[in-house]
Amino acid sequence: MAVLDWLINEIGEPEPCDRVGEIAPSGDYYRLYHFLSDLERVFKKEPNDRVRLTMVRGMVRQLLTSSYWLQDAISPPDPKTGWSLTKLYDEPFFPWTLQNSAWAPGLPSPIHNHGTWGVVAVISGQEHNTFWRRVSPGSSQVEQVGECILNAGDVISFLPQTIHSIKVLGDKPAVTMKVYGKMTEEVQYFQQASADIAAHEAAADLALQNLTIPIAAAEGFLL
Ligand SMILES: [Fe+2]
Repeated sequence: MAVLDWLINEIGEPEPCDRVGEIAPSGDYYRLYHFLSDLERVFKKEPNDRVRLTMVRGMVRQLLTSSYWLQDAISPPDPKTGWSLTKLYDEPFFPWTLQNSAWAPGLPSPIHNHGTWGVVAVISGQEHNTFWRRVSPGSSQVEQVGECILNAGDVISFLPQTIHSIKVLGDKPAVTMKVYGKMTEEVQYFQQASADIAAHEAAADLALQNLTIPIAAAEGFLL
C-alpha cells in the first residue's frame, strides 16, 4: 500500500502531495528536541502555510522513523470514552503541542475544526476522514467536500479553517501522532446540512459529550 501525504486545501478538499521526510541515510538520530527546534525555525522564517505544512509533514515522518520510541508512547483507548491522548510536548508560551492519540473502531467523531493548523501522522490502524465546508459564511451547517482513507505511514496536514470528522476502519484502534499550532480561530462543532443523517449525528453527539471535558481541560489537545 502506497504511503501518502495529504494537504487539506483552503476550501476543504484533500490534495495528495509528494511524500516527504525519511530517516537520514547516515543513520543520525532526529530527536524530539531537533524536531521542536526545527518547528520553531520553520515558523519564524517561512510565512507561507502551505510551505510550512510541507516542511512539518516531512519533519514528523522523520521524527517517527528516527525516534522510534514515540510510536509506542500511547495508551489503549479508554473503554468508557473510546479514545486516549498522551501528551508528548506541551510547554507554556511555546505555541505548538505534540500528542499521540488512540481512537477505537466504530466511534465517529463529531464534525469539527481545530482553530489552528495541524499535521497528523498515522502510526497504526486505518482512519477514514471526511471533509466539510460551511453551506454559507459563518454557518454551523456543513456539506461534504471530500474524503480520504489514511493508513499507517500516511501524513495529513490541514489549515485553521479545515472542517473534518473521522471514523476508524477495521477492528483495531487508529493510533496517530498530532502536531497542532497556536489557535487562531475558535474551535467549533458542526452539523451536516442534509436531514437523513440521524444515526451519524447520534453517534457523533455521544462522542462530543465525551470530548467536552478534555477539550476544556487541555487547550490544544483535540482529536
Ligand atoms: Fe480533528
